Amino acid sequence: MRYDDNSLDYQKNQTHLQKKVYPAGLEATFSLEYKHRLMFTRNVFDPDNSLLLDLLEPTRDNKAKVAVFIDSGVVNTNSMLIDQINAFMQGHASQIELASDVQVVPGSEEIKNVHRNVELILKDVSQFGLCRKSYVIVIGGGAVLDAVGFAVSMAHRGIRLIRVATTTMSQSDSAMGVKNSINAFEKKNFLGFFTVPWAVINDESLLKSLSDRDWVQGFSEVVKVALLKDKDLFGRIEEHTAHIRDRNVPAAVSLIRESAKYHFEHITLNGDPFELQDARPLDFGHWSAHKLEQMTHFELGHGEAVAIGLAIDTTYANLMGWLSDSEHHRIITTLQQLGFKLFHPVMEHTSYLLKGLDEFREHLGGKLTIPMLRGIGEPFDVHEIDTEQMRNAITYLADLS
Ligand SMILES: NC(=O)c1ccc[n+]([C@@H]2O[C@H](COP(=O)([O-])OP(=O)(O)OC[C@H]3O[C@@H](n4cnc5c(N)ncnc54)[C@H](O)[C@@H]3O)[C@@H](O)[C@H]2O)c1
Ligand SMILES: [Zn+2]
Repeated sequence: MRYDDNSLDYQKNQTHLQKKVYPAGLEATFSLEYKHRLMFTRNVFDPDNSLLLDLLEPTRDNKAKVAVFIDSGVVNTNSMLIDQINAFMQGHASQIELASDVQVVPGSEEIKNVHRNVELILKDVSQFGLCRKSYVIVIGGGAVLDAVGFAVSMAHRGIRLIRVATTTMSQSDSAMGVKNSINAFEKKNFLGFFTVPWAVINDESLLKSLSDRDWVQGFSEVVKVALLKDKDLFGRIEEHTAHIRDRNVPAAVSLIRESAKYHFEHITLNGDPFELQDARPLDFGHWSAHKLEQMTHFELGHGEAVAIGLAIDTTYANLMGWLSDSEHHRIITTLQQLGFKLFHPVMEHTSYLLKGLDEFREHLGGKLTIPMLRGIGEPFDVHEIDTEQMRNAITYLADLS
């Protein structure tokens, strides 16, 4: 069939497509169905826990071929974990073919900043003989999930990726997303792919070994999603700030789960998982957060930068007369009670920080669209920023510190 064929037969066969015929070419719209899976568990590598096994579809010799990459920070604080993983794989050797030893990769933002790490992961994937139906299980914080996901999206144009999230940040937000990115040219997440993982596993038992600092980081994203979507959830965070700081696992995990579900639903129900439209409804506070991470050379973690970003944008919303004084006060107090500092000395370079707006605009594709609040749980988009008021918002936080 010729590509410029406009015959009735051709049209009949293509009725499910919307098509338009150009003098020399065709245009068609098509859609694909994706499956997204988010699983909650404890002790995922316990020999009696079948969750992981149930996710693996056998491909060759009735086995699933699997390679495992793990965050060095997780290994350093869980001395038995690699042995447990090996024991799990050996215990299920009739169903799993382990492609190699468990590979330890550098944790934290370093893995996204140093591109050699991605090359090494790709080299492993090649040497292990993984195919498109093999599985890469990546265990780690948001940075490791991003970088391994980035490599795995490239190899064979995509290998099945199972993310085992080990931080409050990845369990509440990043692991449910479909983005896999690394940093380049001093820009956060400049290189990346949209890829839907095979599955995401939130294992709450892995959170125990987090440092206090990393434990609290993910809660800025929980606050963010509550501010955007759920006033009651915000109220529960307010009630539990002390429990969160005291590392009360049941209280914390229940809030993380709610956040995870909102992020999961955003991908599966919102209609724009690959961010083709201008708006980034869940990127509240992120234009400055990404810039602050870069300005501090990643001394600020993503969660800490998001807390400041939320404080900047809620203060701006208050100065613009959209958000009431009392709600502004509740938000700032909650972030502080969670333990976040809402000012960093680099914020004195206000003009440089405001460049984050241009970079956000560029990243969106030209038109600035920033989520703002007119109340807790009542977001709306703005397309212009009053830079004088934004400077005032930043100064307000400096005075607060
Ligand atoms: N893809 C997305 O949609 C998306 C969304 C939000 C954030 N992110 C990215 O996630 C990253 C931040 O993730 P993060 O906050 O998880 O930080 P992180 O991945 O940098 O991890 C923080 C530290 O904790 C260590 N660690 C991880 N799990 C541990 C555990 N269970 N016990 C002990 N130590 C552990 C790591 O080695 C690291 O040193 C940023 O790069 C951010 O851009 C991506
Ligand atoms: Zn974020």
